[in-house]
Amino acid sequence: MKLSTLLTVLITHLVTLQVVVQGINLNATKLTSQNDTVHLQAFQNVIPHYNGMLSNDLNNSNANIIGMERLKKTPFPPWLTEFTGITEWPGLNPPYIPLDFIDMAKIPNYATYQQGNCDANPREACSFDCDYCVEPDDVHTCYKLSQTFDDGPSPATERLLQHLRHRTTFFNLGINIVHYPDIYKKMIDKGHLVGTHTWSHEYLPSLSNEQIIAQIEWSVWAMNATGNHFPKWFRPPYGGIDNRVRSITRMFGLQAVLWDHDTFDWKLVANDPSQSEGQIYRNVMDWMKTGRGLILEHDGAERTVDVAINVYDIIGRDQLTVAECVGGADYIRKFDYNGEL
Ligand SMILES: *[C@@H]1O[C@H](CO)[C@@H](O)[C@H](O)[C@H]1NC(C)=O
Ligand SMILES: *[C@@H]1O[C@H](CO)[C@@H](O)[C@H](O)[C@H]1NC(C)=O
Ligand SMILES: *[C@@H]1O[C@H](CO)[C@@H](O)[C@H](O)[C@H]1NC(C)=O
Ligand SMILES: *[C@@H]1O[C@H](CO)[C@@H](O)[C@H](O)[C@H]1NC(C)=O
Repeated sequence: MKLSTLLTVLITHLVTLQVVVQGINLNATKLTSQNDTVHLQAFQNVIPHYNGMLSNDLNNSNANIIGMERLKKTPFPPWLTEFTGITEWPGLNPPYIPLDFIDMAKIPNYATYQQGNCDANPREACSFDCDYCVEPDDVHTCYKLSQTFDDGPSPATERLLQHLRHRTTFFNLGINIVHYPDIYKKMIDKGHLVGTHTWSHEYLPSLSNEQIIAQIEWSVWAMNATGNHFPKWFRPPYGGIDNRVRSITRMFGLQAVLWDHDTFDWKLVANDPSQSEGQIYRNVMDWMKTGRGLILEHDGAERTVDVAINVYDIIGRDQLTVAECVGGADYIRKFDYNGEL
C-alpha cells in the first residue's frame, strides 16, 4: 500500500471513531437480561475446543474454582454505561447497541447461512471459508513465515507469553478479555499486537446485521476498557467472512486478517484423529521452505499452547506481526488514562 493511501485510510478511521465517541444512542434498557446457560450450551456444541474454560467462567455456582479470576474481571467503565445504559459485561449473546457511524443501508443484502452451506450466495459475496475468496484489503499472507493466535486470552496464554522472544499477533475474544484482563495486559506489556476475534466466537455469516455489530462493538469496548485502545485488525472466527460481514467490520475501521497456513491445532483438543502434533511440525517444516505465510494457531487451550511453543522453536524469532507484514498501523486509536494519546 502506498503511504498516501495508508494515511487516507488512517484518517478515515480516525474520523469514524470520532463518531463513536460522539454518537451516543441510548436504547438499551430492555436488553440487559441474558440467559448464559442456554447460550453456553449452543456455544459448546459448535466449539468443542472451548469446553471447560468458558463454562467454568460463566458458571456462577462454580465461583469457588475461578473466584480469584472473577474478582479481577475488567470493571465495567462509566463511559460504557453512559454509552449503552448497561452496567455489566454481557454473556455469550451481547445486546445490539445502535451506533451512528454504522449505515445499515450500505450493508449488502446477502443471505445469512450456517457454516458449510456454501450455495446460499453468489460468488461475488466473496466468502473466505467457502471459496478462499479475499478482498484487496484482507491480509491473508506475510512475506515472512509468522505465527498468529486466536481465542485468548486464556490461562494457557501465560506459558506462551513466557516462551516467545519476538512480537506476535493475538486475536482475542472480548468475553475472555474481560474475564482475564491481567493476561491481556501482559500480552500488551510484552509488546505483542492485539486484534479482535469478536465477542464470543460466533460464525458471523449466520448472524443478522445487528448481531454482527453486537459481536464487534462489545469486543472493541472490552479492548478499550482493558487496554485503552481500539483495534485495527480483525480475525473472523472459522474464517467466516463475506462481503456483508466485511462491510460492517470496515465501518468499525477494522481490516480482516485471514491465513494461508492452517495448523488445525484445535482438532487435537477435540480429539479428532485426523490431526496430530507430529503432522503439524512436519507441515511447519514444509512451510519454512518458502519462508513466507501466515500461520493460524490457538492459545485457548494448554495443548494448542504446547504446539505453539514447539512451532516457535522450529521457526525461531524471525517473524512479524500482522501490521508489520503489510506496513500497517498497530491500532486505530490509543488512550492513556488521562484521555487520548
Ligand atoms: C428505541 O427503540 C424503540 C423501539 O425499539 C424505537 O422506536 C426508538 O426509535 C429507539 N430509540 C432510539 C433513540 O434509537
Ligand atoms: C434459561 O434457560 C433454561 C433452559 O432453557 C431455563 O430452564 C431457564 O429458566 C432460563 N432462565 C432464565 C433466567 O430465563
Ligand atoms: C456449573 O457448576 C456446577 C458445580 O460445579 C456443575 O455441576 C455444573 O455442571 C456446571 N455447569 C456448567 C454449565 O458448567
Ligand atoms: C475508551 O477509553 C478511554 C479511557 O481509557 C475513554 O476516555 C473513552 O471514552 C473510551 N471510549 C471510547 C468510545 O472512546
